Amino acid sequence: MWIHLGTALLLAFTSTTTAEDESRSLGPITLLESGGFNIGGKKISHPSFPNQTLSCDHGYLEYFIPWHQRKTNLVMWHSSSTQVWQNRWDGGPGFKDLFLRRDYPVWLWEGPRIGRANWGCENMTYQPSFFSDNANFAAWNLGPYYKQWWPGVQFPTDNDTAWRQATSNRYVEFDTAANVELHSDAAAIAADSGKIGTDIVYLTNSAGGLRAMMTTTKANGTNIKGIVAYESIGYVFPDNVNITAGNGGFGPFVVPLERFKKLAKVQGIQFIWGDHRPENSTFVQQSRLCASLINKYGGNAKVVKLAEDEGLTGSTHIAFADMDNGKVAGLLDGFLESNGLDGYQDDEEQKIK
Ligand SMILES: *[C@@H]1O[C@H](CO)[C@@H](O)[C@H](O)[C@H]1NC(C)=O
Ligand SMILES: *[C@@H]1O[C@H](CO)[C@@H](O)[C@H](O)[C@H]1NC(C)=O
Ligand SMILES: *[C@@H]1O[C@H](CO)[C@@H](O)[C@H](O)[C@H]1NC(C)=O
Ligand SMILES: *[C@@H]1O[C@H](CO)[C@@H](O)[C@H](O)[C@H]1NC(C)=O
Ligand SMILES: *[C@@H]1O[C@H](CO)[C@@H](O)[C@H](O)[C@H]1NC(C)=O
Ligand SMILES: *[C@@H]1O[C@H](CO)[C@@H](O)[C@H](O)[C@H]1NC(C)=O
Repeated sequence: MWIHLGTALLLAFTSTTTAEDESRSLGPITLLESGGFNIGGKKISHPSFPNQTLSCDHGYLEYFIPWHQRKTNLVMWHSSSTQVWQNRWDGGPGFKDLFLRRDYPVWLWEGPRIGRANWGCENMTYQPSFFSDNANFAAWNLGPYYKQWWPGVQFPTDNDTAWRQATSNRYVEFDTAANVELHSDAAAIAADSGKIGTDIVYLTNSAGGLRAMMTTTKANGTNIKGIVAYESIGYVFPDNVNITAGNGGFGPFVVPLERFKKLAKVQGIQFIWGDHRPENSTFVQQSRLCASLINKYGGNAKVVKLAEDEGLTGSTHIAFADMDNGKVAGLLDGFLESNGLDGYQDDEEQKIK
């Protein structure tokens, strides 16, 4: 019962205080446990000395389990830095803390070769690009060109430290078709293993969305219950609709219809867009087609434009780190509730008592 009071309290605070005051006012986050492990991957041998081996290409999961836990495990899947889930742009609470406070177990996932799973089975190179800061600025839709902020953008535009933090908190990412397969192979093993529980909702950003969709088409169990993809760049389609697969890292990916239909078994899928994503842009069009195909096979997928559909303006490519991320979190609350994914682990026990 106190949970509902907590939610009411949160809503009441939203109108009168900043998100930071709000999170402080709710007191400490109480965890049952935290930790991490790697999963998937393989062991390869030296071509000439078979007893010399390397364990590589696994993914890594870090978890935070609240003391009083809900049943749904939120797996936060970034494109190239877990940091985007950890803090708001200005250092305030990110989705990690916002949802730990709501009693959801939170999992930070790093696919093979990135972040803390960077022990790969192949050679990797890092080539510094002098254009990365400039490219990030535009790609994340902070503005049309470097340091030309969109009016009303949900970023602390006068905080240069915030910008430096955002653009520096990156890992090398591999936007190739092979990497989409590699990540989704490991993630599907993780999903089917039961180690992330029986109710998984992937929260994804950018190229993570495509990987989570591919994972869902590969997993054989029923643990994947939802996907909320913030600005997914890349979509999966069935092989019966005359869509030509791309050969790069952003799709389209084409899978056998039987595999595609697994997306229709997921309780809820949302493809979320921030500002400056017109209907005629490639990936908005792909999101609408993908959602309609999932629904054609009995699924529950929806495209949500934060401004037009929900009245949240100024959203960037990474809305869950935006200055109004408390409101974006409120929309996720609604998604989880309406899909029956907000229950507590001990609901059954409580009913008996
Ligand atoms: C590893 O293999 C080499 C031959 O390739 C052999 O000489 C060596 O004893 C082996 N070492 C172990 C620990 O098995
Ligand atoms: C600016 O952003 C940085 C990094 O996110 C943060 O540590 C700092 O507190 C922010 N400053 C203000 C005034 O919000
Ligand atoms: C990595 O690169 C080195 C140097 O070019 C080469 O000797 C080695 O075979 C490569 N390893 C793999 C796994 O491709
Ligand atoms: C799911 O089943 C198929 C067919 O047996 C298998 O090829 C695939 O590896 C399985 N997926 C996982 C994640 O184990
Ligand atoms: C499939 O698409 C291609 C071009 O994308 C087109 O040329 C072809 O006519 C289409 N085939 C069918 C059966 O719709
Ligand atoms: C999308 O439509 C706008 C006009 O509404 C046009 O200016 C723009 O060039 C179009 N973009 C694409 C990718 O077709």
